[in-house]
Amino acid sequence: KIPVVIDCDPGHDDMMALVLAYGSGKLDIRAVTTVAGNNTISNTTNNALNVLHYIGADEIPVAMGYQDPIVRSHKESMDRLKARRPKPTNNSEKSRENTENITGASVHGITGLDGFTFPPDNPKKPESIRAVEMIARVVRESEAPITLIPTGPLTNIGLFIKAFPDLTHKIKRISLMGGTCEFILSRPFMEFNTFVDPEATKIVFESGIPITMFGYDVTYSVLYDRRTIDQIEAVGNQSSGMVKSLLDTFMVRHNSSLNHLKLKDSCPVHDACAVAGVIDPELITESKMIHVDIETSGTYFDGATVCDYVSALGLEPNVEVVYRMDNEKFLSMLVEAVRNCK
Ligand code: BDR
Ligand code: CA
Repeated sequence: KIPVVIDCDPGHDDMMALVLAYGSGKLDIRAVTTVAGNNTISNTTNNALNVLHYIGADEIPVAMGYQDPIVRSHKESMDRLKARRPKPTNNSEKSRENTENITGASVHGITGLDGFTFPPDNPKKPESIRAVEMIARVVRESEAPITLIPTGPLTNIGLFIKAFPDLTHKIKRISLMGGTCEFILSRPFMEFNTFVDPEATKIVFESGIPITMFGYDVTYSVLYDRRTIDQIEAVGNQSSGMVKSLLDTFMVRHNSSLNHLKLKDSCPVHDACAVAGVIDPELITESKMIHVDIETSGTYFDGATVCDYVSALGLEPNVEVVYRMDNEKFLSMLVEAVRNCK
């Protein structure tokens, strides 16, 4: 099994990433660490604990990150996020924006995992050490190099690289969901995770650690649809009901919140792509080594992954940018993973 740490902010697609990682049986998940992004740190941590307990993954330790990005406040990220969105046009959009006090709420809801109610009194609790120390502990104690799979803002990974430079040589690769190269969702090069913590993103992208970037270029090319949801529901175990409800909810909220994309009955499951690429690198059908810089001093473009995808600058490529994956194989991996959960 491949030893990994998953750093996440569940989040509907983070939930799917956890289910895929655990249910694939191919990864040795040494720890799950949490970061604020789709919701507050207490909610993303709670959500990670709930998902892991519900799917039967109680043995995986969970360590909690921090509420704010490395330099900026969470509130500032939220205000910047609102400022770059199209102005709300109807009353329900306006009231949603007014009540929104967390960065990912427009898609992932008030809890960060709206659409399914987990049983109360989860016995699974976070470890007493924080996320950064947990990553360091796992890396230090492991004989084999560790693959990091971040599926949220890169706060914990950036802090780890700064705090434990003596351990970074033991990171085999960072397989991350974040960034975008040629796919424009709102503004060029802008993606939520890199946007929320630009300084952390810069530290990670300049670290020299091998990076595979599963950004919007690939995540919007492998969409799940009604058929995938039906197949997951048909698995018929405890986890399948939870995954089905959350994927249903995500599709509705994602597609209405980003209605300019005109997606109807299909939707990306971003974070699961970064996990799938570690489970089976042969899933990747198109990728390019590209020099990517991170914007940290712009007004509109903070956190942007500025990709020299035509190699105009002649600079050393630092990132493998993934463009395409085998859609069918990827979706059937999701279904099979659910089958192997509780
Ligand atoms: C990323 O942002 C979050 O909303 C998702 O969980 C994913 O990690 C997509 O931009
Ligand atoms: Ca995420």
